[in-house]
Amino acid sequence: MGFFNLSSISGSISSFTILLLVLGFCCSFSSTEAYDSLDPTGNITIKWDIMQWTPDGYVAVVTMYNFQQYRHIQAPGWKLGWTWAKKEVIWSMVGAQTTEQGDCSRYKGNIPHCCKKDPTVVDLLPGTPYNMQIANCCKGGVINSWVQDPPNALSSFQVSVGAAGTSNKTVKVPKNFTLKAPGPGYTCGIAKVVKSSQFLSSDGRRVTQALMTWNVTCTYSQFLSQKTPTCCVSLSSFYNDTIVPCPTCTCGCQNNNTQPGSCVEGDSPYLASAISSGGKNNYAPLVQCTTHMCPIRVHWHVKLNYKEYWRVKVTITNFNYRMNYTQWNLVAQHPNFDNLTQIFSFNYKPLTPYQAINDTAMLWGVKFYNDLLMQAGPLGNVQSELLFRKDQATFTFDKGWAFPRRVYFNGDNCVMPPPDAYPWLPNASPQQAVVLTLPIMAFVASLAFLLIYV
Ligand SMILES: *[C@@H]1O[C@H](CO)[C@@H](O)[C@H](O)[C@H]1NC(C)=O
Ligand SMILES: *[C@@H]1O[C@H](CO)[C@@H](O)[C@H](O)[C@H]1NC(C)=O
Ligand SMILES: *[C@@H]1O[C@H](CO)[C@@H](O)[C@H](O)[C@H]1NC(C)=O
Ligand SMILES: *[C@@H]1O[C@H](CO)[C@@H](O)[C@H](O)[C@H]1NC(C)=O
Ligand SMILES: *[C@@H]1O[C@H](CO)[C@@H](O)[C@H](O)[C@H]1NC(C)=O
Ligand SMILES: *[C@@H]1O[C@H](CO)[C@@H](O)[C@H](O)[C@H]1NC(C)=O
Ligand SMILES: *[C@@H]1O[C@H](CO)[C@@H](O)[C@H](O)[C@H]1NC(C)=O
Ligand SMILES: *[C@@H]1O[C@H](CO)[C@@H](O)[C@H](O)[C@H]1NC(C)=O
Ligand SMILES: *[C@@H]1O[C@H](CO)[C@@H](O)[C@H](O)[C@H]1NC(C)=O
Repeated sequence: MGFFNLSSISGSISSFTILLLVLGFCCSFSSTEAYDSLDPTGNITIKWDIMQWTPDGYVAVVTMYNFQQYRHIQAPGWKLGWTWAKKEVIWSMVGAQTTEQGDCSRYKGNIPHCCKKDPTVVDLLPGTPYNMQIANCCKGGVINSWVQDPPNALSSFQVSVGAAGTSNKTVKVPKNFTLKAPGPGYTCGIAKVVKSSQFLSSDGRRVTQALMTWNVTCTYSQFLSQKTPTCCVSLSSFYNDTIVPCPTCTCGCQNNNTQPGSCVEGDSPYLASAISSGGKNNYAPLVQCTTHMCPIRVHWHVKLNYKEYWRVKVTITNFNYRMNYTQWNLVAQHPNFDNLTQIFSFNYKPLTPYQAINDTAMLWGVKFYNDLLMQAGPLGNVQSELLFRKDQATFTFDKGWAFPRRVYFNGDNCVMPPPDAYPWLPNASPQQAVVLTLPIMAFVASLAFLLIYV
């Protein structure tokens, strides 16, 4: 960032604004292309293995692998769609079902499971009878992230296709794969045929071979997923009494005139009825009224200073009355993560997409202890403390250095406060405080988000 020196342009507000706009555009472009610099190869790969040719088609096992480090699919789960290339039908499925049967009137007697040209498939629920299951199915469409739980980072079903080709010369690959989780966000590429593929059976004792395999890769973009941010960051420190709140209206604004009921007060007598009014399957957030209106707030408190160490307390608060976040995760970027010495009550794994740089941590809950972030209310938070060893060459409390550069919750970017609002050291003058250099990137990224969606 040698070209970006805020102090030299602080006198010229307009050029500063223009620079931010230019940076905003550059950043928004890379984001719409679904590129996530903290997980550059993150994708969901859908592998379609033809196991057997039948008189009028084939039987295939379809497996979705979540190769994303920190993004998972939680309830109500995935929905997979595609468009058939010819007049294929689905005779039957194991471990999943289509949401609609479609028009099967041209069939007499033996009626297919689905005759739609563009079927949509959903997973079956846990507790499905064994004879309707295959390995890795029936989890209600939930797929964990690759780092948190690799054995559960996949989902499979079996499909018998009729009116299809019956050899690798006549079969046609379906088109226009769509993956919903369950909302938008993923973009899928074109299915590519892989010559043949061997794989281990689920018990690892038998190598089987597919007669034909095709792969489709789907990637995520937060900008396709939501119109507004879903998460914000607030900051505080032991050296300054000010608590820097999430930016006002980060995820929406309280507007009692045009949108009454866009949020509820925590002590409202109508709370219970407001929560249930949406019905059991309403996943639209119902947030507690706050100035930021975000479902999730991450608070980073610089708590203590020792001679060789310093300590941070991280608190994640859920303001959404309609969501228990299962298998939640947090990704935070700070230059001191290469010397993280101790972490309490969260799991930790360093993310090092660029081998040399070890500044990013993935944190998630301990199983059966705090892996469930409860709906808004007194239990709706989880917290941890991080102990860092000071590297005397770089360590400072000055210029906002002790605060994170970037924070993600469940893979979505959390909006940071503007850098000039960060808590100052008591002896720092405002002029010095404005010369924050490190948090600028985080701020620009947040601003790019706001520019596009406010
Ligand atoms: C998908 O992820 C896997 C595992 O990280 C990687 O090997 C593969 O190259 C990725 N595919 C694409 C198209 O990015
Ligand atoms: C696939 O999607 C594209 C763009 O959405 C559309 O133009 C095309 O007609 C679709 N193809 C089929 C076979 O549905
Ligand atoms: C089709 O099958 C034949 C024989 O089974 C095999 O030699 C050929 O490589 C296959 N082609 C493709 C595209 O998989
Ligand atoms: C297809 O995807 C599977 C699962 O990720 C992978 O093992 C296989 O190598 C992929 N094949 C190709 C040609 O990308
Ligand atoms: C909306 O109403 C709540 C309580 O009814 C009140 O506390 C809040 O200040 C109001 N907000 C605005 C922007 O009027
Ligand atoms: C969250 O979990 C608690 C306890 O399991 C349950 O009582 C509550 O209804 C759940 N809330 C939602 C929104 O699913
Ligand atoms: C990154 O830093 C952590 C914490 O100090 C350490 O445990 C881990 O081994 C480091 N990883 C790499 C790849 O350097
Ligand atoms: C911090 O971590 C880096 C890289 O792992 C290492 O070179 C350095 O010695 C560590 N500093 C301290 C004070 O432990
Ligand atoms: C604490 O930081 C705030 C900026 O967030 C600043 O306005 C305030 O003067 C600082 N307090 C002290 C005692 O330096």
